[in-house]
Formats: sequence, structure tokens, C-alpha cells
Amino acid sequence: MKKINEILGTEFPIIQGGMANIATGSFAAACSNAGALGIIGVGGMTPKMLRDEIRICKSKTDKPFGVNIMLMHPDADEFADIVVEEKVKVVTTGAGNPAKYMDKWKAAGIIVIPVVAAPILAKALEKCGADMIIAEGCESGGHIGEMTTMTLVPQTVDSVNIPVIAAGGIADGRQVKAAYALGASGIQVGTCLLASDECPIHENYKKAVIKAKGTDAIVTGRIGGTPVRILKNKMSREYIKQEKAGADLLELEKFTLGSLRRAVFEGDTETGSLMAGQTCGQVKEIRPLRKIFEELVRE
Ligand SMILES: Cc1cc2nc3c(=O)[nH]c(=O)nc-3n(C[C@H](O)[C@H](O)[C@H](O)COP(=O)(O)O)c2cc1C
Repeated sequence: MKKINEILGTEFPIIQGGMANIATGSFAAACSNAGALGIIGVGGMTPKMLRDEIRICKSKTDKPFGVNIMLMHPDADEFADIVVEEKVKVVTTGAGNPAKYMDKWKAAGIIVIPVVAAPILAKALEKCGADMIIAEGCESGGHIGEMTTMTLVPQTVDSVNIPVIAAGGIADGRQVKAAYALGASGIQVGTCLLASDECPIHENYKKAVIKAKGTDAIVTGRIGGTPVRILKNKMSREYIKQEKAGADLLELEKFTLGSLRRAVFEGDTETGSLMAGQTCGQVKEIRPLRKIFEELVRE
């Protein structure tokens, strides 16, 4: 079987996870230039913004890059056309089944890599024509499923005949080695890239990630069925408190509305949503992307 970096055209078998409001065209280009596959995340973008960010990315790198499309985004249909028109090489998808776009993406030669949190979905997506699967365990930052990377990756590997990329809880060479031992053919990372020189988040957010212990990456929305892993702060503590007290979704939304943007752009570490995974406990300094990627593949 071809190695995934050969399929993707990258130096390393590493994908930068799409991150809403963070994974811009410039950041994706920086990741691609540093040897991984950069990904532009559509979260927080309009169709025009996506097209602009793709063009920015193209102007800053001649290396392959991709786009992460959240399928429940109201503009998903338009995003699905833009990646074809702009000749994007790779699409990763989240939050749903991309079956209705598969024919046009395949006709355009796009490599399609859905993100899953359950092996059964991976099987269904392989039937739809997915080229690879990203199996993302609940150690990861952002929206999560139930299974850990340790259990999800081998069960996904056993249920499909296409390469599986492990995500969630990976931030150094030991964890990359473990992912390969579980049967993965590559890795996707998010949290460890937050503490990079090139990451466009506010300094306060970077500092909060560096300061956090693994146990500070808690989960909001467990009761309501939309679990999100974020750092402990005033907002997330209050959210969980209200959730346990039986607050309805509308009330809870008051806490989260605009909160990721407040963290990313304004550096509001009190009421902002500081999405980060459990590897925050091992991220100790801000480093250049190239160094982070080299260290990941060292073992
Ligand atoms: C701040 C942040 C935002 C994220 N936003 C998205 C997103 O918009 N779409 C998506 O598919 N995954 C998102 N993720 C998940 C990442 O793409 C990646 O799979 C995950 O971070 C890998 O696990 P790790 O955090 O343990 O490295 C996000 C992760 C973080 C940390």
C-alpha cells in the first residue's frame, strides 16, 4: 500500500486538523510549507471567505493543502462546489455523511477523508467512496465523540480496507509510534499546533494552552448531546454548572455564542471558548511548526 504522505504529496504523514476560526489560508499554507498537509477550516466562514482563504493559501504555498467542511454548516452545499472550482486537492469532512457530494468530488479527483468518531460510520463512508478515514478519539480538542483514540483507531482499522489516520491525544513521537502500533497510517493534530509561532490565535490563548494541565481540558455539552472539549475557565465551569442544573439549550447558547471568536481574536480567557485537547498537559512552549512536525516524526 502507498504511504499516505505519498498519496497526499507531503513530506510527513501528518495532517493539520481543520480548526474553526483558526485554520485560515495563511495558517494552512504555513503547515504545508512546514511539511504537513495544511487544512483550511470552514467553521466561521462564508462562501466568499472560503474562496478568498483558498486563494491566499495558494499564493503562500505551492504544496498540497486541503479544506475541512463541517457538513452541518448552512453553506455546506456552496463550500462543496467551491472546493471543486478552486481545484482543492483534499477535503476532510466532519459532522455528518458527505455521500451527496461524493460523485462530484471524485469526478474532480479530490481525495476525500471524512473524520469519524465511531467505526461503524467509517465502514459506511468507505462504501460511499472515501479514500481514507480520520479516526478522532475524544482526547481531542473541539467537538468529540465517545471513544478514545486507543479504542477507536484499531476498531476502525479492522472495519475498513482504506488507510486510517489517527487523531486525538497526539502531540509527540511516543504517541505517533502508538498510533502506528494501533494500525494507523498517519496522524492528524490540532492542540499541539495552537502553541506554534505561526498559529493566528491571540497570545493569551497560546499561554492558556501552555499553562493548562491535561485535566484542565474538560467537556461541555455532554448532557445536551453536543460534547466539546475546551479548557476550564469561568465560561466552561458555569456552562457545566447550568447544564447540570437542567438549563435548556437556548440558555446554554448564551454562554457559547461568539465565545470561540472571543478567545481566538480578543484573547478573552475568562468567557472565551478555549478549545483544546488533553495533550495541552504536554505542550510546554511556543515553537515553530517545522520543529513541532519534525519532533512528531522523530521516533
Ligand atoms: C481549537 C480547535 C478547533 C477545532 N475545530 C475543528 C473544526 O472546526 N472542524 C473539525 O473537523 N475539527 C476541529 N477540531 C479538531 C481537529 O481538527 C483535530 O482533529 C484534533 O484537534 C486532533 O486532536 P488533538 O486536539 O488532540 O490534537 C478542532 C480542534 C481544536 C483544538
